[in-house]
Amino acid sequence: PNYHIASIPGDGIGVDITQAAKTVLATLSSASQAFTLTYTDLDWSSFAYLKRGYYMPEDWATQLRKHDAIYFGAVGWPSVPDHISLWQMILPIRQQMNQYVNVRPTRILAGTKSPVAACQKDPKLLDWVIVRENSEGEYAGQGGTTHGHTKDAIATELAIFTYVGIERIMRFAFEVAKSRPRKKLTMVTKSNAQRHGMVLWDKVFYEVAEEYKGVVEFDKMLVDAMTVRMVEKPESMDTIVATNLHADILSDLAAALAGSIGIAPSSNLDPTRKNPSMFEPIHGSAPDIAGKGIANPVGAFWSAAEMVRWLGNGKLDEIAEGLMQAIANVTVAGVKTRDLSGEKSTTEVTEAVCQEIEKL
Ligand code: NAI
Ligand code: MG
Repeated sequence: PNYHIASIPGDGIGVDITQAAKTVLATLSSASQAFTLTYTDLDWSSFAYLKRGYYMPEDWATQLRKHDAIYFGAVGWPSVPDHISLWQMILPIRQQMNQYVNVRPTRILAGTKSPVAACQKDPKLLDWVIVRENSEGEYAGQGGTTHGHTKDAIATELAIFTYVGIERIMRFAFEVAKSRPRKKLTMVTKSNAQRHGMVLWDKVFYEVAEEYKGVVEFDKMLVDAMTVRMVEKPESMDTIVATNLHADILSDLAAALAGSIGIAPSSNLDPTRKNPSMFEPIHGSAPDIAGKGIANPVGAFWSAAEMVRWLGNGKLDEIAEGLMQAIANVTVAGVKTRDLSGEKSTTEVTEAVCQEIEKL
């Protein structure tokens, strides 16, 4: 089959790694003969915003809905306040495309090193899937400021938790946990200090958990203690479910514990499949290394593999696994960027992965 992809490279290293991912996907497509991709290239970026005054055109949602999936690089540039870039692109896309789940797997790739001592001996100890609530919570965008930015200023940042929103993310997380060998779900909360939304979050978790008793093992963690457990007992967890903000933070930590933020993928999913889902590495536009050709493209490749898996809906899993194997062969061979203690460029890693795909 042929799939239509909306490609949004965005800013900074988003441009480099999207290009790299497209190269690898083209190789995967021709080597496997299992699928083809047609792209619509969208120049929605901070650069475009500075030039014309908007990130996305008015009919953006209609444009995106004509596609089977969205491939996204990163958005954000120092000359535009970050809350503007995020709120004019990535957050509206996630919300209006009903991408209420953000799946963030983390593993230590073969040939790479975790900063956690125990994981250096046994890399298999760290193998997590973080399921992030992606539509509401702390990123609901509600609140306001009075008295502008004066010394009398008061700002509110309202988190919104709905029964429907919590229930659907819990159900999805239990299903992910059930599908994995260890069948274990850890729920993250902060219901000791946040006594309304987080208490509802807990309550709905235990309600849904009733249906999985004896099938999925589950436990609850306060988010602060969770950061410690991730470092000290990585093997004690498997699938993790957390709010929009908590999972955002924990997934950067998870990636760093696995070796680098540059390897971690994410899938923004509309499980109903009525809208296109969106695939992007978890990192941002990294202005500090943009334009240097040294960005790690592995997170982008892994995200591409997840996109292929999603598009195939069960029929392209083997092809996606092939891409993951090609990445592992390359890291094992020591072809790595600087963040993984290597010395190769984005292009060199990309070419090496393409060569491995052709050998499969
Ligand atoms: P960042 O993830 O862009 O960078 C954090 C650090 O990790 C930097 O030192 C960077 O060089 C390094 N890094 C990130 N990706 C890497 C890769 N692939 N290879 C090697 N090193 C890598 O986060 P930061 O600096 O907080 O944000 C920069 C901009 O990106 C901001 O404008 C922010 O709002 C935006 N952002 C956008 C996201 C998105 O589009 N989904 C997600 C996160 C941040
Ligand atoms: Mg983040």
